[in-house]
Amino acid sequence: MIDTTHKLQQAASRLGIKLEQMPRHLAMIMDGNGRWAKAKGLARAEGHCEGAKAAENIALYCARLGMQSLTLYSFSVENWKRPQDEVEGLMALYEEYLMSMRPMLMRENVRLVHMGRRQGLPEGVISELDRTMDLTRDNTGMIFAFALNYGGRTEIVDAVRHLAQKCLAGELEVDEIDEACFGRHLYSAVMPDPDLLIRTANEMRVSNFMLWQISYSEFYVTDKYWPDFGEEDLDKALVAYAQRDRRYGALSQT
Ligand code: IPE
Ligand code: IPE
Ligand code: MG
Repeated sequence: MIDTTHKLQQAASRLGIKLEQMPRHLAMIMDGNGRWAKAKGLARAEGHCEGAKAAENIALYCARLGMQSLTLYSFSVENWKRPQDEVEGLMALYEEYLMSMRPMLMRENVRLVHMGRRQGLPEGVISELDRTMDLTRDNTGMIFAFALNYGGRTEIVDAVRHLAQKCLAGELEVDEIDEACFGRHLYSAVMPDPDLLIRTANEMRVSNFMLWQISYSEFYVTDKYWPDFGEEDLDKALVAYAQRDRRYGALSQT
C-alpha cells in the first residue's frame, strides 16, 4: 500500500504546489443537481442520480490524491422540507449508493463515517450506513465523512446535550469544557477542521454546514453544477487554495 503522505506529495508536485499547501480535510457542499437537470430538460431526480456518480468519482479521486479527510454534504436537516417524492427518491439513492460504493472503499482503503442525526433516517439507509461503516472501520487511508441528515446547529445542540449529561453524571467538570473538549463531542471528532470548503452552483452561503469547524476554513465557490464537477475542477480549487494566505488573525508570514 502506498503511504498517504507519499501520494499527497506526488499530487502536490503534479499541481506545482508544496505538500504543506495541500488541504488535510476537504469539505464540499454539493449543490446544483436540480438546476443541472432543469438546464437539460430532465427531472430533478436525474440530477440527483448524476450527482451521486459525481460524488463517488470525487471520493475516489480524493482517496487516490492521498487526502486525509473528505466530507460531502449530501442531505441537510432542512432538506426534509422538499416534496415527499424527491425526499424518498434521495433516500433510495443514498441506500443504493452506500451499498454500491463498498468495493471502491475497500480497494482504496477508505473509512466511511456518518455525520448527522441517525434519528429520522429510514431503516434501510441506517442499516446500509452501519454495514458500510462496520466493513470499512479498520481501513487506514482517507476518512470519508458522509453528511446525511446533517445540520450544523443540530450538531452543536447534540454536543451540548452530551456534555451536559456528562457533567450531571459527574464524569466531567464544567471548567474542563474548552474548545478542544467541545470539538471532541462533535460528529466530526475523528477529523481535523476543514482547510478548504468548496461549494458548487455559485451559492455564497454555508446552509448550516459545519458551523463550528469552518471558523478558519478557506471558502471556494464555483459556478459549475455538482454533476459537472470533476477532477480538473478539483485540481483548480486545490491550486487556488495553495495561493491563499491563512493568517488566523495574525500577520502574514511572508
Ligand atoms: C444538491 O442539489 C443536492 C441536495 C441538496 C440533496 P439541489 O437539489 O439543492 O440542486 P438545486 O440547488 O435545486 O439546483
Ligand atoms: C445545501 O444545499 C445542502 C446540501 C448540499 C446537502 P441546499 O440546496 O439545501 O441549500 P439552500 O437551501 O440553497 O441554502
Ligand atoms: Mg440547492
